[in-house]
Amino acid sequence: SVHLKYLSEDEDAKRELAEYIQETKKSINPRWRLHYHVIPPVGWMNDPNGFSYYKGEYHLFFQYYPYDSVWGPMHWGHSVSPNLVDWRELPTALAPDEEMCFSGSALVDGDKLVLMYTGRLNTDTDPFYNETQYLAFSDDGVNFYKYEGNPVLARTPDGAYDFRDPKIWKYGDYWYVVIGSSTHDARGRVLLYRSQNLYDWEFLTVLGESNGELGYMWECPDFFELDGKYILLMSPQGLEPQGDRYKNTHQTGYIIGSFNYETFEFVPEVDFQELDFGHDFYATQTLDADGKRIVAGWFSMWELPHPEDVDGWAGAITIMRELKLSGNRLLQQPLDEMLSLRNGSVHNGSFNKDESLVFEKTGELIINGDLEQKIELEIAGTNGGNNIWIRWEPEVKKVVVDRGGDVRQVEWSPIGSRSWRLFLDASSLELFCGEGEVVFSTRFYPDGDLRVNSFSDQSLNVEAHKLRRSVP
Ligand code: FRU
Repeated sequence: SVHLKYLSEDEDAKRELAEYIQETKKSINPRWRLHYHVIPPVGWMNDPNGFSYYKGEYHLFFQYYPYDSVWGPMHWGHSVSPNLVDWRELPTALAPDEEMCFSGSALVDGDKLVLMYTGRLNTDTDPFYNETQYLAFSDDGVNFYKYEGNPVLARTPDGAYDFRDPKIWKYGDYWYVVIGSSTHDARGRVLLYRSQNLYDWEFLTVLGESNGELGYMWECPDFFELDGKYILLMSPQGLEPQGDRYKNTHQTGYIIGSFNYETFEFVPEVDFQELDFGHDFYATQTLDADGKRIVAGWFSMWELPHPEDVDGWAGAITIMRELKLSGNRLLQQPLDEMLSLRNGSVHNGSFNKDESLVFEKTGELIINGDLEQKIELEIAGTNGGNNIWIRWEPEVKKVVVDRGGDVRQVEWSPIGSRSWRLFLDASSLELFCGEGEVVFSTRFYPDGDLRVNSFSDQSLNVEAHKLRRSVP
C-alpha cells in the first residue's frame, strides 16, 4: 500500500554530513563541553525530540543545525543510551528537504520506530511559513525514511497558522497527538487529535487554551497521566514576569487536572506552574519508561547569548529527571542511574566559612546545613571567568541562583529531605532541593576547573564526588 512506500534519503548527502561532523569536531574548543549531558556533536542544538525506547535502547533526538553554532534549517540529531545516563552519538536522523524538521516525538509501532514532527516551509507570502505534520520511519533505529504522503496533518481546525511540535502516544486502539498552536487572537493553546493508522487524523478538541494571560503560543506540549491525574506540560511564549516568576524569555510549566477518554475533556485543577526555576530550561519532552515518567529539557534559552558558540557548538539537554506528583506540584528527581557516574570522593564532612573544594570540570555535591542560617556558595573557575552564587535566605525562605546579578529565586519549604543535591558539569549546574520540589537548571561559563567556595559564616556538611564522562 502507499503507506509502506518511504522516500529514502540521499545516501551520499548522509555520508558527506557525517564526514563534515567528524572533521569539524576536531576544531571545537573543549573548555565548556559538557561531560555527562547530551550536547551537539558540532553546531547548534535546541529542543529534545523523539524521546523513546526502541529495540533495547533509549533514543533521544534533538533540534540540530550542524553547520553553525546558531539556529539554522533544522535537522534531527540523534543519541542512544542503555540507561538514560551513558549516551552515544548516532548519525543525524533527519535532514531538511524543502521542509525544516521542527520538533516532534517518537513511538514504536510493531517493529518500526515512528517519528512525527513538524515540517516547516518558509514561503514568500504572509504568514511566511507553513507548519504541517510529517511522519518518518525506521526499521533499525539508525536510518530514517520520510513518508511519501507527507504531510499527514495539514491544517488547524480554524486555519490558524502556528501548528507545531506533535507529541504522540497510544491509548487503547488509537494513536493520540497533542500539537502546540495559537488562536487567531494570539492565545496559546493545545490541540488534541487521534488516529487509528497514523495517516488519517481526526480533530478531537482544544485540550487547553490560554485565557489571555498564559502567552501567545504554547510550544512543545506533552500530555500524560501521573498517579491518577493528567498533566499538561508545555512551553508558553510571552508570559510577562511577575515577581519571582516567569523571568526567562519563555517558560516551561504544567497544569494538573483530570481527563476522560470518552469526552476528551481536560479539566484543570491547579493553575499553571513553572517546572524549573533556573535560567536555562525550555521545550521539555517526557518518556514513559516502564511506568516512570522521565523528562528532558533543552538546557538553554532563546534570545540570549550562548557563550560557547565561539567554541563551535551551542546548547545541551539537561540530565534526565523522573517526574513525580506530590500534592499540587511536580517533583523532578535525578535518576538512580546517576549514581553510576560517581568516580571518586572529593570531600565528605564539614564545609565551613572560607573553605573550598576543587572539581576537575564535573562534580556532584550533597549539601546539608541548618536552614536557620544563611547559606552562600560561590562556584567559580580556577582561572577566573564567570562565577555564580547559590544562596539560601532564611528570613524569606528562598533559594537563590545569582548569575552575575541576574537572579532566579523561589520559596522553598521542604516536604521531606532538607538537603541540596548539586550537579556541576564544566559550564552547567543543576540544583535539586529536597525531594525535587525546587530545581534550578542554569548554564555559566567559568575558566579552568570548578571551585566551590563557602563564604558566609555558615556550617555545612558536604559529600562531594567526581563524576565520570558519559558522553563521548
Ligand atoms: C521550541 C521551538 C519549537 C520548534 C523548534 C524549532 O524551542 O520553537 O516550537 O518546533 O523550537 O527549532
